[in-house]
Amino acid sequence: MAAYNVRVVTGNNCDSGTLDLISLTLVGTEGESPKTNLDARSRRFCRGMETEYKITCEHHLGEIILLRLQKEALSKDKSDSWYCNFVVVTSAEEVSYNFPCYQWIEDSGPLELREGTAKTPAMDHLPRLQQHRKEELQQKQGIYRWKEFAPGVPYCLDVKTMEELETNVKFSCIKAAIFQENAKRKAVELKLKGYSDRQESWENLEDIKKVFWFNKTEMSEHVTEYWKRDEFFAYQFLNGLNPTVIRLCTKIPSNFPVTQEMVARSLGDSTTLKEELNKQRIFLVDYHILEGLSPGLNNGRLQHIAAPLCLLHLSSEGHLMPLAIQLSQSSPSPIFLPNDPEWDWILAKTWVRNSDFHIHQALTHLLRTHLLAEVFTMATLRQLPMCHPLYKLLIPHTRFTLHINTLARTLLAAKGGVFDRATGTGFEGLVQLLQKGMASTTYSSLCLPEDIKARGMSSLPNYHYRDDGLKIWAAVESFVSSMVDLYYKADCSVQEDRELQGWIYEIFQKGFLARKTSGIPSSFSTVKEVKKFLTMVIYTCSAQHAAVNSGQFEVGAWMPNFPSSMREPPPKTKGQASLKSYKETIPEINTTASILSTLWLLSAPTGDMIPLGQYPHHHFTERDPINLIAAFQAHLGKISKEIKKRNKSLAKKCLIKQDAPLLVAYKYLDPAEIENSVSI
Ligand SMILES: *[C@@H]1O[C@H](CO)[C@@H](O)[C@H](O)[C@H]1NC(C)=O
Ligand SMILES: *[C@@H]1O[C@H](CO)[C@@H](O)[C@H](O)[C@H]1NC(C)=O
Ligand SMILES: *[C@@H]1O[C@H](CO)[C@@H](O)[C@H](O)[C@H]1NC(C)=O
Ligand SMILES: [Fe+2]
Repeated sequence: MAAYNVRVVTGNNCDSGTLDLISLTLVGTEGESPKTNLDARSRRFCRGMETEYKITCEHHLGEIILLRLQKEALSKDKSDSWYCNFVVVTSAEEVSYNFPCYQWIEDSGPLELREGTAKTPAMDHLPRLQQHRKEELQQKQGIYRWKEFAPGVPYCLDVKTMEELETNVKFSCIKAAIFQENAKRKAVELKLKGYSDRQESWENLEDIKKVFWFNKTEMSEHVTEYWKRDEFFAYQFLNGLNPTVIRLCTKIPSNFPVTQEMVARSLGDSTTLKEELNKQRIFLVDYHILEGLSPGLNNGRLQHIAAPLCLLHLSSEGHLMPLAIQLSQSSPSPIFLPNDPEWDWILAKTWVRNSDFHIHQALTHLLRTHLLAEVFTMATLRQLPMCHPLYKLLIPHTRFTLHINTLARTLLAAKGGVFDRATGTGFEGLVQLLQKGMASTTYSSLCLPEDIKARGMSSLPNYHYRDDGLKIWAAVESFVSSMVDLYYKADCSVQEDRELQGWIYEIFQKGFLARKTSGIPSSFSTVKEVKKFLTMVIYTCSAQHAAVNSGQFEVGAWMPNFPSSMREPPPKTKGQASLKSYKETIPEINTTASILSTLWLLSAPTGDMIPLGQYPHHHFTERDPINLIAAFQAHLGKISKEIKKRNKSLAKKCLIKQDAPLLVAYKYLDPAEIENSVSI
């Protein structure tokens, strides 16, 4: 006789428990236990509950390698899903085997779980376990199928409606409930306030504050106060929602003929444009990618899209200031200057903010975080079995991504969706922009240290996005490196891992459409390459998304700072703009309201948030990776403290009135505020 102690742990979510019948079978190298019913009727599988059972067999089972869990509904017409966290089996000799599960169990036949030790294919010696890896992947590839979202854009999960989404990738009940409640509340609120169907212009800009006036934050107040200030306009290229487009300018572009005479007043007597170019104190933001997009219809009216250029200067005090703006890629087109008539200059800056809206939403946010995160998620689910060390490493960084992206494809980025009805590109323009953005997305630009260098942005002061981001990148890199070293002792172990090779090949094919010029590898030959790629994946799914997602409402709530569409064409001459023409150009009342409620929904807390580096699902069961996780958390904790400290010192400096527009906390990359995955 042999006896085993079995400890079963049910998940903690509101609907994790079950009243259905659960049975369990142990599979060892020397035989199987009988299928044993665990007593469910006494409500032992309630949420968060841990229960112990004894399993007795006639023979000793050898090493326990698999565990089979099966659930059968008590009544035919009502199945009660069960979320199992993990099972620990202990033999009479006190040998423990840990079986991470972390998934829903339905009635569709038994679920066979592997013992939790992380193993690459080469580390698996038993044919039975080799076979298990294969079958698991075949099954996953049947569940998570690819489909084309649009030509020239990364592939995505093949589902048409939310109902088709597999249970294991859905929002938890808490997150789903809060999200739905948030959406409903905002819709009702807009109706009550009468904003939902008013197609006229804002009569007073001040009224825009009333849309969601009680959801003020430090940042939204700051924007409302300083939106017209040049310092704040320039600051947003460094620490706003879209901190990835500004670059060093070493030569004035021929299609943007800014002269010394134009900028003399801004630069002052002591220097010249040429000198400042030489000193690397001139910067450029170029929205050429927006040129030629077809504009959309909002409220039945054709919108307008510009493709501006904006030149900036870093003053000797270390402040970035705009020097000149041109609203099209070709001259002759007026070059607007800070000392132009007030509304000319405000309107020119607002056009740039509108272009920034398009680039931010379509490329920086949707394409370069959401859609790529989905590709990484799909490749991980389809190509890496649960026992693979890189599955264990990556899966927490894919949480809820398929759900939020499916929602986005049904409600936002769809024909008739919010982006179609309330932004200047409409859905077709959005797709064109995604296609152009995709064609120019490179591996290098997804790697923060390389991107900062390539843009010549290494030394400019007060670039918090860069400073915080590089620290987090380094922390992720060091964590990932040590993890990879545990499982890949030499380059040949990378070359031989057909699962890992299948993973990167699928990302290359489905994510980057096999475009070699993207620089994305189609296979890995060295350990070093694997480390770099995994760092990029985790950074993109966590920190990069937080940097471009979290501030959407507070930065955009004052709509003139982030208008989604423009109703009049860009001005062709100076001296025409007025407050009246300004109000007739920026979005009308219900377009504003519709965008604000979306931005609010996408940056409001939805509960059930897991911060970067926290892994409440214990997929890793060995001591070494668990120690590395603890070191990673400590590293992130230190970064978080440094960021909070900087905010305190900023708050003190705030007493110096003149610098006020720049003195606001940058908190989007505080590790405590970053979520592990793209989930909203
Ligand atoms: C604005 O209101 C009109 C008229 O009620 C409606 O047809 C349109 O869909 C609304 N637009 C948005 C963006 O909500
Ligand atoms: C927005 O305001 C409402 C009403 O006061 C409040 O219940 C909600 O928590 C606020 N949400 C955020 C994200 O601040
Ligand atoms: C920044 O610091 C100030 C002063 O300590 C505090 O009032 C504010 O809430 C902080 N903001 C953030 C985002 O931490
Ligand atoms: Fe997002």
